[in-house]
Amino acid sequence: MSHGSFHPPQRTLMGPGPSDVSPRVLAALARPTIGHLDPAFIAMMDELKALLRHAFQTTNALTLPVSAPGSAGMETCFVNLVEPGDKVVVCRNGVFGARMVENVIRCGGVPVVADSPWGRAVDPQGLEDALRTSPGAKLVALVQAETSTGALSDVSTLVDIAHSHGCLAIVDAVTSLGGSPVMVDQWGVDAIYSGTQKCLSCTPGLAPLSFNELAAGMLRRRKTPLRSWFLDLSLVLAYWGGESTRTYHHTAPVNALYGLHEALLILREEGLEQAWARHALHHQALRQGLEAMGLALVVPAAERLPQLNAVWAPSGIDEAEVRRRLLAEYGLEIGAGLGDFAGRVWRIGLMGHSCNRRNVLLCLTALEDVLGRMGTPIERGVAVPAAAGVLDRPSQG
Ligand SMILES: Cc1ncc(COP(=O)(O)O)c(C=O)c1O
Repeated sequence: MSHGSFHPPQRTLMGPGPSDVSPRVLAALARPTIGHLDPAFIAMMDELKALLRHAFQTTNALTLPVSAPGSAGMETCFVNLVEPGDKVVVCRNGVFGARMVENVIRCGGVPVVADSPWGRAVDPQGLEDALRTSPGAKLVALVQAETSTGALSDVSTLVDIAHSHGCLAIVDAVTSLGGSPVMVDQWGVDAIYSGTQKCLSCTPGLAPLSFNELAAGMLRRRKTPLRSWFLDLSLVLAYWGGESTRTYHHTAPVNALYGLHEALLILREEGLEQAWARHALHHQALRQGLEAMGLALVVPAAERLPQLNAVWAPSGIDEAEVRRRLLAEYGLEIGAGLGDFAGRVWRIGLMGHSCNRRNVLLCLTALEDVLGRMGTPIERGVAVPAAAGVLDRPSQG
């Protein structure tokens, strides 16, 4: 058997992540590896932390990228803040809320689940009720952007409710950061984590994270030792946190961090508000096109996440075959449904570098062609003009 270098096929990534990685980020990844304690690398780390604070809209000192994917960001929050016996209210409206419940259990905590229906935002009244009927909780955990359903929750309101019951709030911003407002300080979020492969359009494998002083204090006051060595933030901080001295904790993923630095620079150059507006505009264009074709979005308009569009697959169609043909014939990846939505919905991502005019029009054209040839009764010839109509509308600003 002969082996050769791996050359991935050309794809357009419009699934739930990863999104297309910017060529600038790919170029940064290919720069020479230097030592992770090299003064030049340490200077880059300091810039990276400043860029992350900007992306999260925070001044939190404890802001850094965990050297592992979004799931490790989630786990870092739970292992550092939950001690055995702690009650944690988890808002669950999809797959990632369910994973938070798992995390609480594995930390020895006691989860109290506030369920909201799949495809809907977290219901603030449901959280209020859970906190009232189950007093004594220490933390509330919620997912801002539920990638499994495409629902966007109102973090500001939910964090206020958590605080009014004396709880700190852990927020998952894996799919929201860079695509929708994430205002850590303004909203009073206590602990937050994200991922690099969604709206930051970086390669997968890093988890930006930020703790405010209240969360850092909760960590310092722990009565029991942390069960994880790698994710223990008090140890990680000796490497990422120090002003002058850095102590070895683990070998940082040097080139991956060059990539994240570049991705955050791109976001800063574009401007946060402009990036959010771009995601909102292209979402509206895609929605108009899909609806003109006769397809329907899963989430009610006011609760939709612009960067992840969950669409009902027409009944009777082999939805997996549609995705297979899009990939084979157009090099276009869209996502399958997860959990309760498996086999029933497609998840179309418009994240970061993938969120552009070309991709919206390509997706609509390709879907129309594939669905048409599979005999699905859709309106033909109307989707692209409908989407272009949104994109070409003179801006109001
Ligand atoms: C909302 C949310 N949380 C957590 C994760 C886990 O991130 P990762 O796959 O990078 O571990 C994802 C990944 O899709 C996600 O969408």
